[in-house]
Amino acid sequence: MEAPMHPLFTREGRKDPHPIYRRLRAEEPITRIVEPYRKIPFRLLTRYADCSEMLRDPRFGKDFTKWSPEERQRLRVSDEFEALGKHMLSADPPDHTRLRSLVAKAFTPQIVEGLRGRIATIAEDLVSAALARDASGMDLVSQFSYPLPVTVIAELLGVPASDQDDFRRWTTVLFTPADTEEQLAHLRATGFAFFQYFMQLIERRRAEPQDDLVSGLVAAEEGGDRLSTQELVGMLFLLLVAGHETTVNLITNGMLALMDHPEQHERLASDPSLLESAVEEMLRYCGPVETTTYRFALEDLEFGGVTIRKNELVVASLLSADHDESRFPDPDRFDVGRKPNKHIAFGYGIHFCLGAPLARLEAAIAVETLLRRLPRMRLAIPREELEPSSMLLLLHAKKRLPIVF
Ligand code: HEM
Repeated sequence: MEAPMHPLFTREGRKDPHPIYRRLRAEEPITRIVEPYRKIPFRLLTRYADCSEMLRDPRFGKDFTKWSPEERQRLRVSDEFEALGKHMLSADPPDHTRLRSLVAKAFTPQIVEGLRGRIATIAEDLVSAALARDASGMDLVSQFSYPLPVTVIAELLGVPASDQDDFRRWTTVLFTPADTEEQLAHLRATGFAFFQYFMQLIERRRAEPQDDLVSGLVAAEEGGDRLSTQELVGMLFLLLVAGHETTVNLITNGMLALMDHPEQHERLASDPSLLESAVEEMLRYCGPVETTTYRFALEDLEFGGVTIRKNELVVASLLSADHDESRFPDPDRFDVGRKPNKHIAFGYGIHFCLGAPLARLEAAIAVETLLRRLPRMRLAIPREELEPSSMLLLLHAKKRLPIVF
């Protein structure tokens, strides 16, 4: 008989996983769960200390190409992964170091600061366009939180921002559980559409280089041994998806937290010097990346008093870690002035988010713009009607956020 679905995967669990995480941290901090769609078993870590320790422990790796074909079959490492998945987030050193260093200099805080003016213009224009469309309300996700980061990352890469409807359709499929043959076929076709899109873009930039990141990476690929074509496609895919799908949900979750806590909303609106700590608190309190991606044990090992076998999968719940009562005083309180606030919403260790400076800047500009332009913003529907955007654990996000001004 099939095991019942773990409560974290139920609709209630996706809407509010905190009571489940609280219990797991207290009673079963390293637990065994089966992802119900592809039936993938994994260990879930829920305490801050375990999550941060595992993420910097070199006995856990990410490079699935080290697996035998049988092991890959067992865990259903799929075709779309093969086509798009050769990137730094699925690589171990030394490949990881090489791939990350090729783009790291484009994402330093100093370089990213140079984008401030452009990001502010995009944010202002989006609010103006929404107000022109309907002066009484909007869906914050589709009209603001989504187009802001997707436009920024598309411009940075050199991908036409006008293709964002395609990206939205494709990434939605990638974050939707697939278990039936039909859903898996759809997932593969979507992975392939993405792959073809990038191949065409690469050919265009090869023929006519521009002043953008894609052209820079094409030059690195042509330079020979530093970047293969498959790695180039993987890099573009990772930057495009990681560069917007996450930030969308930080802006949305963060604004929702402010609407849920009118006194914090008021406090931030009247003291803009709190903007930076408010964004950090949004990352901690309602960070958009609920769990990390999979890692696996490179050998049989002991971790946190548990034996983990070679190739067993392990995932850290960042959202749970950031609500760990042994690390954060009063963790369920949303406090825009919280200090210290050493959350791990951007992960930890060698895969720490490359885009953190960009995400922080985008979120700060988004929140500042919305507070100033729409000071009376509030939810247009009852709180409990807000639906999670994904039934997978990776993203902690809302599908829509209807607001009135
Ligand atoms: C990795 C979170 C925005 C690019 C990660 C990881 C997390 C994360 C948790 C590690 C995943 C793991 O260890 O399995 C976030 C959050 C964001 C955000 C919360 C927004 C609020 C961005 C942006 C970019 C980006 C804007 C733009 C380029 C990346 C890349 C990696 C990564 C390339 C892989 C790094 C590596 O493997 O060395 N991110 N991210 N992220 N993120 Fe972000």
